[in-house]
Order: sequence, then structure tokens, then C-alpha cells
Amino acid sequence: MIANQKCRPFDPDLLEYCETPQHLAIYTEYERSITVNQTARQLGIDASAVSQTIRLIQKRAAGDHYEPEGMATESLEPDEKVSAKNSEKVDKKLKHKVPTYVITWAQNDTPVDRDFLASIKNYCKHRNALLIVIPGRYRNPTSVGEGLSSLHQEYWADEVAPYLMNHRKVLNPNIVIMGDIKTQPTAAIPLSGLEGITGGMSGVFGHPKVQLKTVATPQHAYPKLLTTTGSITKSNYSDTKAGKKGGFHHIIGATVIEIDGDNFHMRQIAADDDGSFIDLDYLYTPAGKGKAPRAAGLTLGDLHTEFIDEECEKITFIDRNSIIKTLKPEKVVMHDWYDGYSGSHHHYGKVFINYAKHHSGRNNVQEEILRTFDRTKTWLCDDTEFIVVGSNHNEHLLTWLERGEPKLDPENALFYHAMMAKVLSGVVMGETAAKIPNPLEILAREHLELDGMRFLRRKDSLMIAGVENSFHGDKGVNGARGSINSFRDIGVKSNTGHGHSPAIEGGHYRAGTNSRLDLEYAEGLSSWFHTDIVTYANGKRTLLHKIDGSWRAKR
Ligand SMILES: [Fe+2]
Repeated sequence: MIANQKCRPFDPDLLEYCETPQHLAIYTEYERSITVNQTARQLGIDASAVSQTIRLIQKRAAGDHYEPEGMATESLEPDEKVSAKNSEKVDKKLKHKVPTYVITWAQNDTPVDRDFLASIKNYCKHRNALLIVIPGRYRNPTSVGEGLSSLHQEYWADEVAPYLMNHRKVLNPNIVIMGDIKTQPTAAIPLSGLEGITGGMSGVFGHPKVQLKTVATPQHAYPKLLTTTGSITKSNYSDTKAGKKGGFHHIIGATVIEIDGDNFHMRQIAADDDGSFIDLDYLYTPAGKGKAPRAAGLTLGDLHTEFIDEECEKITFIDRNSIIKTLKPEKVVMHDWYDGYSGSHHHYGKVFINYAKHHSGRNNVQEEILRTFDRTKTWLCDDTEFIVVGSNHNEHLLTWLERGEPKLDPENALFYHAMMAKVLSGVVMGETAAKIPNPLEILAREHLELDGMRFLRRKDSLMIAGVENSFHGDKGVNGARGSINSFRDIGVKSNTGHGHSPAIEGGHYRAGTNSRLDLEYAEGLSSWFHTDIVTYANGKRTLLHKIDGSWRAKR
């Protein structure tokens, strides 16, 4: 019998050290099952094999100088007086009209990206914002500390010393700066295990790798957002595997928080090579500021047009200062543009839902499509290309044609047969697969001004400023279901939709939704959020969260 306590608790960062699919399967199951014996039972293998595998993974990590969180041996802290003074400044800033904070992270004994700092100072002047730097520490025996002596590892660079704050600061009932938590900068999943620590509030954590996740909260209308910041110090890691990976994910960047009463707005800023960065429609450089070039792309959270949230529609497309009118994106990417509720295959045999649909007129497929087109016509604008991504809900129409039963559906029978004729007449056999026209595109060509619209097939690519935008997110590798991690690992920057819960994992940004948050299939706790992704002209990105009818603080 193998004693369970001989293996340490599951540590998600150690997934990185699984070098075979079998090890990955065992360690992943160990996360679910918690004990060695339970893991062995679930996988139908011997407990000793499980135990040996876990020890092997832990040994590999130890050989790579991996330090589990909380095991750092140093107890460095910045100057207490400076931190306390900055904590007071945070409070004072809350009395301003639009309290705005730029929050970033700095590593001890490591040089600052001076150009980025200069750009941030120009930002703070323009937006009347306060810079806060969360101190982080790391022991690097091969430190590149340009000009900083290895004898002075307890110091942070002079340029950021005045901005350090290691306090936990509540900015309003919904957002807190977690300045008092130091996470190992090489942590692959920096927010791991921190989901509950902010209570019901959203939280900003200092870390050089940018990660964002949404967590459902029962007592709030919105889920909470947890994010890390990016770094103002340069990449400075050891030459181990963990160190090299830390360097790969090191982002020179920060999080901007605008306080708006009890609400807040949160955005990522990321520096270009010259230290400049874009926040919405302004470009900040070490020398000053100016209007930013128009955004390269806006990847909208899933639209589900039949059930679009009207406030989201207003602030995205309609208002004088809408997102599209302000950022003027060259391309707008639309996921789950059509909802397909009227003919959804999920409703087969659902007698009560079908009864309600029948008596409310919600089961007419043609009418739902025309309503989608009418709404879209009000969004299209000159000089911007609107691109419909191949998505599972858009494909509901094709599924309805394949599985529909017109004999039992007199309301839709004529439209069904007309559409079948249109689609069938375009079907051809390709070299390796049948080619089936997109019925939505056929109809859009009949009803919409298509000059500014394009429909992507599943296999098409859509690169926008170096970011792949053609994946909806429902399909992963080799036919498996898509997940945050499957797109994180492909090594190409990507923006996706589908999950309705915004996230950042490595180079993968996931949008939220623009639909109402109370859709029929949103049951139980929800982490859905109204969120789009902006890809700026320089290829850097931010999530844009829409909260209570606004997408940024009104100034
Ligand atoms: Fe969706």
C-alpha cells in the first residue's frame, strides 16, 4: 500500500514537467482525484505506478530548481515608509473625479525598462493616473543586473523605488490591489490557487506573466476578474528550464484600473520594443503622447444577435462614443453572429421549450435570420471589414437543414425546402471532402450589402497584426474540444470566442459574450462577462469589459 501523504499535494505548475502523454494523464487525474489510490482506481492502474510517476515529475521539477510557491527563502520587503506613503496616495486618488491607477510589477536587483517607465509617466500626466509598482523577488544566480551589484539583491532599482507598494488596497467594493502577495515569477500559472483569496472582489496581482481569468461569484451580477500585471523590470531569469520559460512569458506591461463609483474598468497595456504603448485611442511614448493609429482589429464577444444585450449593442456600435466609432478598427471579427434558437437541434424532443417557441413565434427560422440581418445592417460602417468566423451557432442553420423534419414542421417547411435547393445546388465533391456552401452566407448575399462583410470557413486563416483570429474556440487539436490551454500551447498568438468567459493565457486571449447573460443554457453559477478584444495597430492587445452600460470611465 502506498501512503498518500508521501506525495505532495497537486501543484498545477508541475504539469509542465510531464514529458509523456501517460505522465500527463496520471498527473491530470491526480488533480481530480486528490489521492494516489483514487487516481489509480480511476485509471485502472497500480497505485505504485501513480506514486512513482508523481515522484518522477517532482524530481524533474526539483532538478530544474523549481520552487513551489511559498517556499522562497528570502524575506525581502521594500522600504516600509515608501509603501505606506503610496498606500495613502492610493486612498487620496480615490477622491479624484476618475481615479486611475497604472499597476505593474518589479523584480528585485533587476534593471527597469526606462523607456516604458517614461511612457507610463507621460500616461499618468495625461490621465491624471497614479503609478503603483508591486515588488516581486527572485533569486537568480546568473543575474544580468546591469549596474546593480549582486551584493544588493535586497534592493529594487532606484527608478521604481518611489512607487513600490506591498499593501493590499481595496479601491471600491468590487476591486482590490493585492500588493502583499509575491508569486514566484517563473510560475507557469500565476493565478493558480488564488481564486478565492479576494473574496467576492476582482483582484490585481503583481506578476511578469500576464494571465486573466473570470471566477463566478454567487452574490454579484458579474463574476470577478482576476488578473496579473506584467512587469516594468527587464527579463532576468536563471538559465534553467523554468528560468527560460519565465523569460519567454515575461511581458513588459501593466494593468490600468479606472474607478467609476462602485464599478471599475480594467485594461492591459503592453510595451512595444521602444517602450511605447497604446491605451484605447492614444499612443504614449517616452517623449510624449499622441493619437493612436486606428486599431487593427476588434474581436467581439459572441454576438448571438437574436439575444444580444441591448446595452452592449449600444456601446459597441450605436453610441456617439461607441467602441467602434472611437477605435475605428480596420476589421471587426464576429463569433456566434447568428444564434439559431429558432431551429436549434438542442430542442429536439423538448416539448415545453417547443411549446413556448411555437406560441411566441420564436420557432420561425427565416424570421430569426432576417432579424439578424436587419440588426447587422445598422452596425456595418464604411472602411471597416466585418468578418463572420465559422462558429458552432452559425452552423446551427446547416445542422437544421441536415436534421430538420419539414413534414412535422409546417411553419418552416417552405423555407426549409427552398434553402435545401440553394445549398444542394452548390455542393461539390472536393479532393478529400465534400464542399458545402454556408447557407448563412447564401442568404446574406441576398439580403445584406456584402461589400464590407466576409465569411470565414473553418480552415481559413485570419491574421490581424500578427494575431490569428480564425478560431472560434469550440474545436481544439485533432478534433478534441477547444480549451484555453489548447490555444495557449500552439505557440501562435490567437483571439477566440465561444467560452463567453474572458481569459488571457499566454498568447491566447478569449473574448466574452455580447449576449444577454441569462440565456437558456446559462444555468447555475456563471463566469460569463461582456468582453471584446482589441488588437492595436502594434499587435498588442487588451480585453475591453463592458460593465453597466459603459466600456471605459467617462471623463
Ligand atoms: Fe457563443
